[in-house]
Amino acid sequence: MPAAAEASMATAEGGLTKPRGYQVTRTCAFLLACLFLIVIASALLLMYLLAPCPCARSSGLAYSRLSKKSNLYVRLPTSVVPHSYDLKLIPFLQPGNFNFSGNVDITINVTQPTYNITLHSADLSIHTTSVRRLPPAEDNDIVSDASPSAEVQIPIRKTEFDLKREFYIMHFNQRLEPGQYKLVIQFAGVLNDALQGFYRSSYVSNNVTSWIATTQFQSTDARRAFPCFDEPALKAKFTIHIGRPEQMNTISNMPKSGPSTPVEGIRGYYWDHFSESLPMSTYLVAFTVSDFDHYADGMFKVWARSSAVDQAKYALSIGPRILRYFEQYFGIRYPLPKMDMIALPDFAAGAMENWGLITYRESTMLYQEGVSASRHKQRVGTVVAHELAHQWFGNLVTPSWWTDLWLNEGFATYIESLGVEVVEPTWRTGDQFVVHDLQNVLEQDAYKSSHPVSAPVSHPNEIDEIFDSISYGKGASIIRMMDHFLTTPVFKRGLTNYLNSRIYGSASQDDLWEALTDQAHADNALDPDVTVKQIMDTWTLKTGFPVVTVIRNYDTGSAEVTQKRFQYVNALNAQSTDWWVPLSYTTQDRADFTSTRPSYWLKARSSIVIDNINTNPNRWVIFNINETGFYRVNYDERNWQLIINQLRDRDRFMNIGELNRAQLIDDSLQLARAGLLNYSIALNLTTYLSEELAYLPWEAALPGLGFLNTMLKKMPIYDKFKGYFLNLINRLYEETGFIDKHTDEQLLIYKRVEVLRWACALGHEDCVKNAVLQFQHWRSSPNPDKNNPVSPNLKSTIYCTALREGGQAEWDFAWERYLNANVGSEKALILQALGCTRETWILSRYLHRAITEASGIRKQDTATVFDTVAGNIIGRPLAFEFVRDNWQKIKKFLGPTVFTLSNIIRFTTSDMITEYELKQLKEFAMTKGEQELGSATKAVDQSIEIVEANVHWMKNFYKDVELWLQSVKY
Ligand SMILES: *[C@@H]1O[C@H](CO)[C@@H](O)[C@H](O)[C@H]1NC(C)=O
Ligand SMILES: *[C@@H]1O[C@H](CO)[C@@H](O)[C@H](O)[C@H]1NC(C)=O
Ligand SMILES: *[C@@H]1O[C@H](CO)[C@@H](O)[C@H](O)[C@H]1NC(C)=O
Ligand SMILES: [Zn+2]
Repeated sequence: MPAAAEASMATAEGGLTKPRGYQVTRTCAFLLACLFLIVIASALLLMYLLAPCPCARSSGLAYSRLSKKSNLYVRLPTSVVPHSYDLKLIPFLQPGNFNFSGNVDITINVTQPTYNITLHSADLSIHTTSVRRLPPAEDNDIVSDASPSAEVQIPIRKTEFDLKREFYIMHFNQRLEPGQYKLVIQFAGVLNDALQGFYRSSYVSNNVTSWIATTQFQSTDARRAFPCFDEPALKAKFTIHIGRPEQMNTISNMPKSGPSTPVEGIRGYYWDHFSESLPMSTYLVAFTVSDFDHYADGMFKVWARSSAVDQAKYALSIGPRILRYFEQYFGIRYPLPKMDMIALPDFAAGAMENWGLITYRESTMLYQEGVSASRHKQRVGTVVAHELAHQWFGNLVTPSWWTDLWLNEGFATYIESLGVEVVEPTWRTGDQFVVHDLQNVLEQDAYKSSHPVSAPVSHPNEIDEIFDSISYGKGASIIRMMDHFLTTPVFKRGLTNYLNSRIYGSASQDDLWEALTDQAHADNALDPDVTVKQIMDTWTLKTGFPVVTVIRNYDTGSAEVTQKRFQYVNALNAQSTDWWVPLSYTTQDRADFTSTRPSYWLKARSSIVIDNINTNPNRWVIFNINETGFYRVNYDERNWQLIINQLRDRDRFMNIGELNRAQLIDDSLQLARAGLLNYSIALNLTTYLSEELAYLPWEAALPGLGFLNTMLKKMPIYDKFKGYFLNLINRLYEETGFIDKHTDEQLLIYKRVEVLRWACALGHEDCVKNAVLQFQHWRSSPNPDKNNPVSPNLKSTIYCTALREGGQAEWDFAWERYLNANVGSEKALILQALGCTRETWILSRYLHRAITEASGIRKQDTATVFDTVAGNIIGRPLAFEFVRDNWQKIKKFLGPTVFTLSNIIRFTTSDMITEYELKQLKEFAMTKGEQELGSATKAVDQSIEIVEANVHWMKNFYKDVELWLQSVKY
């Protein structure tokens, strides 16, 4: 699924997603029942349409959720499987009537005798149900009503809802024998505003509000739109019909099968009929009703509201090419006759890979040249490629259960960078993967509260929790590792075999391991006595990853290589571990940074000795070429010193490959943070950065230095740190300059953006002056919504700096622009910048607006506001106090869109570093308790662990850093 919202998730999809768990209140259910009666009495329907419905007006939905980690068994009985669905739905899109009514015919196979049929339904009122036994297929042509082989109605004894399991159960007096049956269910529901199931979205244009009905079903919300067997392995064919007002259009997974037909009894409504789909999972079903416009390129279409559809051209220019590339990559044609992509004004996640109809939030699909930043263009490319990759990995072959979600998401996240590389080769997205995805998740996976990528889950709450950067980023990183140790041709052949053998079906990780093992053995890529499963189980079933320590014996030329779990607290006492670690390395003489095949393995052993590493004692060795292995590397002090000497040689530091320079910086700073390496060594290594101009090493360095910035920001040594940091970026600042040129390469632009961001944040005089000036130009421009002189790439720094330096006038100006912006990326950007002000009361007003209906901030963006306010040193305590004191109100505002809650917790606590803050956080957790924290419970636990580690750091390492900063000369 879905790419994370803009906010701060580094991985493509990750986090910001999942709403969950509400049900229709009794009154509403009753009203819905009335609705249904009216629907069938079609003559009265128009009256109904005009009458306001109390369900939708008061938000009418009572929040209820199931207790976490319940032992409730939530899987469906296996005696019945769905064969095909014929689904008819009519959504109504008027204030006062956001209901929908529907009918579903499900052909099922009873595989074992049973007295009941159980399927999923949530928040729906079900009006009538009937069950018929179908004659055996071969008798079809001799069927007559009188013949014994005709369809037979089966009386239903009673029906019931199991609310906890979200089941709808039909009980029978007679035993249903194996065979084919047809269920017919009529039902109704409410188009909710919680961005899940079948929901409504809206936008305003020329002062007129237009409504949209759309869907988001992953993971378990198809059951909120129609009764169904809502498990990923229960694939079936879908024939869909959607009723819509005359002037609107509908799209679904498949193309239309014929002309639209009038809806009987509802004037001005038409049925759109769609062709039968291939066998697919319920969570991939999608349909939308809107007044959007589109552009097309052959079978490929992009949709958006008419005033934004121009912004979809970039997505349309790359989408078809990426799709064709994936056809080659997987060796399997895209099996559907068309592809639609649609940008929705309200969307909880980043995007969703529904088969043949990919849904996006506006900011992940729309790109406006001259308004959106280049970084944003990459984001669009990445998300488009990610969702297209899912059309094979996830849609064609689907994980049997959510435990294997990581396979889906890990693959899509890895392969997205390969897809983008094809259409935008100069961006080097494959290399960027290392500094963005891999290094980011190495940090998160070092905490105990992390989880294995393959996590046993059952309940919907637990399923939601694993849509995180571990599943995405670590999943992708270990797949990349496999690509390298098997070598790409072997890896791709194995992959194609796996997909072909499971096509239209489902599979688990073991099935993939088997296909890859067979291929690896056939191609001699792996010892015959070693399997991919053996290796990969150590990476998927356990939490964390190893730090590999290489201790050279300079007399004998040998080296001992050991592994331990990497963690920030108590790292020295961490247990030795048994991962299968592929070891690639090079030496100063060879300096070969292209060959990533492992020359040794740590075969689930805690250590090995390499007898001869083939270099002389005064030459360095570097392990983990291009950081293709998912681990960190530590060395003895002498080898570190040899590496530092090389890096500090301004003419020859480039002998070490760019990705490995990035690796050395990241590893050394993180090892020091964990107490495994003396801070003076790590910091000495960073001194070479004053000569470094390449993008990737800087992208590795900035988060590491950013961590120190957070820790030192309130400490007396901060001016020294600032001075050192500014000195490091000085040359880069000179090189990139403040002027953003149209012709600049993407990576140069990124460098400029990053260096300006830090320079301005650290108070670099020239930077701040420039930023404020450019913002003034914008303010004094005659029509600032149309004429913005600020270069798109520099907007984030310029807005933020100007708002930080300015007061209410600047803030209010930016807020106006936010409200008027027509481009999603611009809105997202201003939203971030609005948190930069130093005026406490404005920050407070901003937080209040984030949880106020109709303030102009959409629910999908609430967490971003907390993120930016908490990222501001002045806003940090404010944001936390606000969350603590307004918890109930926030929960109520977000309603069932609870996933946002977890992000709010993460964002508002991640920079806490003092004992006092830790105490406050723990008190918060205790007084609220699991009951009130609800879905944010896990996030609170994780936050406590992170803050504890920060506090631990201050106690143990602050002094070392202070000492080093006092003595460093530059
Ligand atoms: C259901 O049964 C029919 C007839 O026996 C068979 O053709 C079909 O493949 C079965 N479908 C499923 C999903 O088991
Ligand atoms: C429905 O039948 C299945 C067996 O086919 C059984 O396991 C399950 O418990 C039954 N459910 C109920 C609610 O009776
Ligand atoms: C938009 O509508 C509101 C109320 O419906 C009205 O007060 C306002 O003047 C309108 N604005 C424009 C630009 O038409
Ligand atoms: Zn995905």
